Order: sequence, then structure tokens, then C-alpha cells
Amino acid sequence: MALSIFRTKPIAADGTTESSGLKKCLSAFDLTLLGIGAIIGTGIFVLTGIAAANQAGPAVVLSFVISGVSCAFAALAYAEMAAAVGGCGSAYGYSYVAFGEIVAWMIGWILLLEYSVSVAAVANGWSGYFNNALSAMDMALPDALTHSPQLGGIINLPATAIILILMGMLIIGVKQSAQLNTGMVFIKLLTITVFVSIAAFNVHPENWHPFMPYGWFNTLPDGKTTGVLAGASLVFFAYVGFDAVSTAVEEAKDPQRDVPIGIIASLAFCTIIYIIVAGLLTGIVPYTQLGVSSPVAHALKLLGYNWASALVSTGVIAGLTTVMLVLYYGLTRIILAMSRDGLLSPFLSKVNPQTQTPVRVIVITGIIMALAAGMFPLGALAELVNIGTLAAFVLVCFGVIVLRIRQPQLHRPFKNPLNPLFPLLGMISCGGLMSFLPHATWLRFLVWLTIGLIVYFSYSIRHSKLVK
Ligand code: ALA
Repeated sequence: MALSIFRTKPIAADGTTESSGLKKCLSAFDLTLLGIGAIIGTGIFVLTGIAAANQAGPAVVLSFVISGVSCAFAALAYAEMAAAVGGCGSAYGYSYVAFGEIVAWMIGWILLLEYSVSVAAVANGWSGYFNNALSAMDMALPDALTHSPQLGGIINLPATAIILILMGMLIIGVKQSAQLNTGMVFIKLLTITVFVSIAAFNVHPENWHPFMPYGWFNTLPDGKTTGVLAGASLVFFAYVGFDAVSTAVEEAKDPQRDVPIGIIASLAFCTIIYIIVAGLLTGIVPYTQLGVSSPVAHALKLLGYNWASALVSTGVIAGLTTVMLVLYYGLTRIILAMSRDGLLSPFLSKVNPQTQTPVRVIVITGIIMALAAGMFPLGALAELVNIGTLAAFVLVCFGVIVLRIRQPQLHRPFKNPLNPLFPLLGMISCGGLMSFLPHATWLRFLVWLTIGLIVYFSYSIRHSKLVK
């Protein structure tokens, strides 16, 4: 058994683990837009405010820099792996090649957590802006129906509802198309441009003092964490999604060149935007007033720009819808990949002949995510996503080092310079961010990992396609 849990998948001669017959139509530019479409979302539009108010103050800008740099190391590792190993399974696929099945399984299991809880978290952000738009029309829902029980409500109804609507859309086959994504990226960037153009002329530098009211890092008696570093581990959520570019490797025209470009360019672009937006947001209103569910719209309203506030809310509502679609779609893909490998039941990968979509997996995951979105607050969901994603990043960085030793002759169209410096820095910085997350998040993550091990040893190990 000790051997079989470390069995690895071979890499095909063309540098991919398998071929899916998907149409190769995406250029480096399309991939960059795909990345931006999946990256810019609740992180910048909501968590910036929460992290500024509760964890970092105006120094949330530094939180974004620290998180962005850690992601850059991980992005280089993803770029190397996506170009050399390929496959739509992303980190799951790379670890199947580099480490063997048990690690691949655990990564896949973590990715299920990352993608599903991200959808629930983004739905929470969506709900905040949706309710803000309703209240602008004097139609606000009662608090009990827009807040999870932990925040004193009964259920976050809009968050639950939007996931069920997306579930319906995915069932009838509304697939994330490159054009729709391009349109949405445009709307998001327009929204940000409106905000930046107004905010730039309304900065009051006194709002940036004190710059670092919570210091670098503190653990409170209840296990919660504050400070710039704790803020970095929360706003890390804003960067989640650049790894989604690597799942499009089979649809890229020239994957070995374009995927590394798409990953690195989309991350670099978003990092710059985030630093600008976070700096301006904390410059136009005192950070203490930003701990609300729609901080960017709220800040514009406080400045007296009601029209801009409404416009931004509408843009955010549209933009977050595509983030959820991309992540939800990615989730079903990862489940399909794991089910095709035999690690999850074939029951899940059955495609409905009428709709030609994997209805079962869409419905099961949709209901679970809708419940999570309704019952848990954004902060807790985002932190859970972050711990899982950071763990996956650490392992992908480690995978680069391991694969360089195990398969030195492998053709690597994109190589990290000065190996193993960057993957090592990636492991240290992403591991560091994990350590700044609250205790409750660690506990939930360990419970998830334990369930994963139980499923692996009771089912997957015997049903893996590699058994044959
Ligand atoms: N990065 C994505 C967001 O911030 C998940 O919504």
C-alpha cells in the first residue's frame, strides 16, 4: 500500500498528461482576460474595507503588496508546471505527476474546498452590493434576511438565491464563453475607473493617519488575528483565481508560451489595480467606516456621489456574477477530472444526455454552496478558501523543486530562473500567510483534510484508474 498511494501519472510526449479534444482557440491576451475575469471580485470590492476596518487600517495597502508578492512566486511555479505538465486539473494534475496519488488526492480535495467555498464567499459579496442597490431604490430587504446567523440574521437570502440561479444556468448549459468574459472584464474595469477618477480628487491625507493602527500582527484572546500580516492573509482572497488560467491549458493556442504569459500578466495587472484602489479607498474616508458589506459604493455615497455609488454597485453585481460562474464551472471540471481518474465516484461525472451537462454534480455542489453562502459570513468563508489555496500553492512550489530532481530531462518551455530560489520563497511566504490565519480557520481546514483522508482510504485508493 505504501507504494500504491505514491503511484504517479506519466506525462505524455507532447508535455501534457492527457488530451481532451477541446478546441484550441485562446491567445495569451484571451488568457490574461480570463485571469482578470476570475481574479477581480469580492476581494477588492468588499474585503479591502473589512481588512482596513478590522485588521490593518490604511496599511491594508501593504497587506495587498505582501499577498501579491507571495502570489507572484506561486504564479511562477504554476507557469512552469502548466507549461511542462499541462492538463486541465491544475495543481491536482501537477501533483499527480510530481508526488503521486495521495498528495494529488489531497490537493484535489483542497481545490474542491477552494472553489466551492469561493463561490459561497463571492455570493456574500454579491449580496452586499445587491442589497445596497435595493436600498438605493428604497426596497432594502430586512437585516434578518441579508445576514448569516453569526452576524445576527437568519439567512443571507440573496447569496443563497444567486447560487441557485447560477445552478439553473449551468444546468441548461450556459457555459462561460470567452466573449461574455471579455464583456464582464470591461464592465469591472469601467467600474474601477469610475471609482478611481472620483476618489483621486477626494483624498484627505489625514485619513491615512494612523497608517498602521493595528501593528504587524496580534492574536486576540478569542483566536482572531489582526495587523497588516493578518490583513494580508485575508485579502489574499482577492488574488484567488489566477490559478484558473492554468485550467484552460487545453484550450490555449500555444499553451507552453501563452499560459505562463496569461498567469503572470493577469496577476501583475490585478496587483497594481488593487494597490491603487486600496490606497484611494482608505484615503477618501476614515478606515473605521469601511467595515460594511459594500465599502466602495458606501465610500462614494459618503462623499455625496450617489449616482456613482449606484453605478459602481451595478458594475460590481455584474462583475461578481462572472467570478462565481468561472469558479463554479472550474469546480465541476475538477470534480470531473477526479472522477475520470477513479478517485471520486463515476456517479458524479455522468453527463445528462438531454442538457449535455453534468447535472448531478452541478446540483449537489450548488445546494451545498447555496447553504454555505446563506449560513456563514464572508470573512469566515474567505479565510477558509485562503488556507486551502495557500496550501495548494505551497505544494505546487514544492512540486517544481521535486520535479526538477525527479525528471531533470523534462522539456520545460518556461523555467523559473535561479532554481530553487523562487519556489522556496513561494513556500515560505505562502506558508507564512497560512500561519497568520485564525485558529478557527485552521481547525475547519484540519477537519476537511481528515474527511479527505477517510474518503481516500475508504474509496479512492481501490477505485483509482491507476490500479489497473
Ligand atoms: N479573487 C476572487 C475575488 O476576489 C475570488 O472575488
